[in-house]
Amino acid sequence: MESPGYDLAAHARSFGAAAGEYARARPGYPDDAVDFLVAGARRVLDLGAGTGKFTASLVARGLDVVAVEPSPQMLAELRSTLDVEAHEGSAEATGLPDACVDAVVVAQAWHWVDPARAVPEVARVLRPGGTLGLVWNVRDESVPWVGRVWAIAQQGSEHEMRSSAANVGAPFTGGETFTTRFEHVTDRAGILDLVASRSYVIVLADHERADLLAEVGRVLDEEFAPGEEVRVPYLTHCTRFRRG
Ligand SMILES: C[S@@+](CC[C@H](N)C(=O)[O-])C[C@H]1O[C@@H](n2cnc3c(N)ncnc32)[C@H](O)[C@@H]1O
Repeated sequence: MESPGYDLAAHARSFGAAAGEYARARPGYPDDAVDFLVAGARRVLDLGAGTGKFTASLVARGLDVVAVEPSPQMLAELRSTLDVEAHEGSAEATGLPDACVDAVVVAQAWHWVDPARAVPEVARVLRPGGTLGLVWNVRDESVPWVGRVWAIAQQGSEHEMRSSAANVGAPFTGGETFTTRFEHVTDRAGILDLVASRSYVIVLADHERADLLAEVGRVLDEEFAPGEEVRVPYLTHCTRFRRG
């Protein structure tokens, strides 16, 4: 559950302050998840595109892509690496024309939106029969070192995030799910960036964030030798809806 005083809007707006850490540290998405989310589509909207982690997979497939993202700093990171149509906007107000895309994908961001406004907005920009795909990469915290590290920065669990997929209603039907696994290969600095790109950590006071990252650093020093490769196990959970 959200903790007392948890400010969802502040967390949703927080990402721009750590756009660099986000772009460096967060993994992309496995091919079989992308296949499931955009099957048969030609023009795709990546909504809440952030620094372009999912957008890059769409571009690599030669799809006709439009990215929409509310944070100007995240959008600047995306534009610095991808030559793609990209606009400032949100899930509640994309700024796109009616029935202009075959698929909308919201990667790691649906839990930040207001579904009462986002569901009709996504339905408006999708052609009839088009799909809405939601996806979350979730660390496998049953692996002991992963559990230790993320216990330190554990607020707003991914379980709650995924359960937000349940708030997609009419005119959408379906809700087919697909789960796959992958490993993100990184190092000690990459794990610290990964933790620093979490909204819970971004919104902390500077001294609290420094203390938290130092604590994570101590755990990593116990778990890994200096310079050792670190493999982060992830489960990728996808849900796909069809617009009636
Ligand atoms: C965890 S990041 C995911 C970014 C990217 N999709 C990815 O997979 O790396 C969450 C993103 O959702 C964006 N966001 C927050 N509120 C939003 C809203 N109401 N509509 C669309 N995007 C939103 C944030 O600015 C941030 O870029």
